[in-house]
Amino acid sequence: MTTWYETQMAKDLFPIFGARAIRGIETNFFLSRMYTGKSALLRVAQHLEAHIKKEERRALIITDLFTKNFVKNLEDYLKLIDMDYKIWSNVLPEAPLPSIEEGVKVCESYNPKVLIAIGGGSVMDTAKMVMLKYEKPDQNILMIVPSLGGPLGLRKKIKYLIFIPTTTGTGAENSQDATITDTARDPPKKIEVVHEELLADFTILDTDFVKDLPPFLTMATGLDAFSHSIGAFTTNWGNPYFDAINLTVIKEIVQYLPRSYKYGGKDIEARSHMQLASSLAAFGAYGNQTPGLNHALGHSFGKIFDVHHGLSCGLFLPYTLAFKAKVTDKWKQLCPIFGIEIKNKNREELLKEFIQKIRDFIHSINGSTCVKDIKDPIINKEKYFEKLEKLVDYANNDAVILVSHRPINEQLCKKIFEYAWDGKDIDF
Ligand SMILES: [Fe+2]
Repeated sequence: MTTWYETQMAKDLFPIFGARAIRGIETNFFLSRMYTGKSALLRVAQHLEAHIKKEERRALIITDLFTKNFVKNLEDYLKLIDMDYKIWSNVLPEAPLPSIEEGVKVCESYNPKVLIAIGGGSVMDTAKMVMLKYEKPDQNILMIVPSLGGPLGLRKKIKYLIFIPTTTGTGAENSQDATITDTARDPPKKIEVVHEELLADFTILDTDFVKDLPPFLTMATGLDAFSHSIGAFTTNWGNPYFDAINLTVIKEIVQYLPRSYKYGGKDIEARSHMQLASSLAAFGAYGNQTPGLNHALGHSFGKIFDVHHGLSCGLFLPYTLAFKAKVTDKWKQLCPIFGIEIKNKNREELLKEFIQKIRDFIHSINGSTCVKDIKDPIINKEKYFEKLEKLVDYANNDAVILVSHRPINEQLCKKIFEYAWDGKDIDF
């Protein structure tokens, strides 16, 4: 079974939607209600108390084995409003379909009115799909076309979907996209289900949930947010509002991600800035625009070689930015953020310097910009090139590739993957 975006019709039609005039008709702004800081849990609890009858106050808390420890942070608030709750902590990395089915069964027996997801992108994306499959068991998730497909009619059983992110990067709390794993394919493939009704009703950003994030996840999820904002800014789906958000988010990440990586929980200011930047990166990119080509390559590579999503997407940025630069000058607006002097340089010199600054930034937090340098897991060169065909197939059939600013095909995808092995500069 394939998704709607893998059909030839979608591939033929979608580039038209990138045209400014069409986007003028079909540009929407979706953002969950965001509560930040130490009053956030209380504010949301008060809302639930006021809007849900006492006899219907049942919350299913969705976590994984690591994030279930955070449940204690909200237990007092749930007790305060007489909210009965149950914890389901079996979410698996990358949201495989069988794990989602298990969550649906838990909903069927417990009948919750509220879903509270505490975790990273996989936990939140699982919660979106659990809600969808619980409410609409017969819905073909592979054929949900955003916007033009019409409403899904959710929120008849689940009244509130609440997200508490425990990483600073995925932005799943503010995106209408669920990236899940189709385990029926060999190898398993990441697929995207996108619909505005999958957006959370409330997002709680409290640094207590992210202060102890380990350095690797700080780096990898931070690079995910960086890829969202910089990828979206350099596509043709922008408008002045999203461009302004993405520019600010890129500045914030450049300033605060290295601090957050270096000092961790000792630098709560940096953590807080990254929390908000990541969430807004999803609003400015994933939920309403698209992060573009680097995510298509990152999805394919990350899934096939079991590499963290954020690390994978960050890795392809130097290549995709250079690839897109053949048809746009938008990257020039980002030069001052990286301290690049624009005057008296020709375009070629400037682009080279810009791409090098992107590489330097990723290296400054121990990210990788070529496949052979990845330390966890180490990837064998022969195995990488053996899988090239599958890498290209999955990337070329990813949802976000439909809105590549510069037309792309299998041959060009293949060339980028080849260059990414050892960091060769894009020259085509
Ligand atoms: Fe991402």
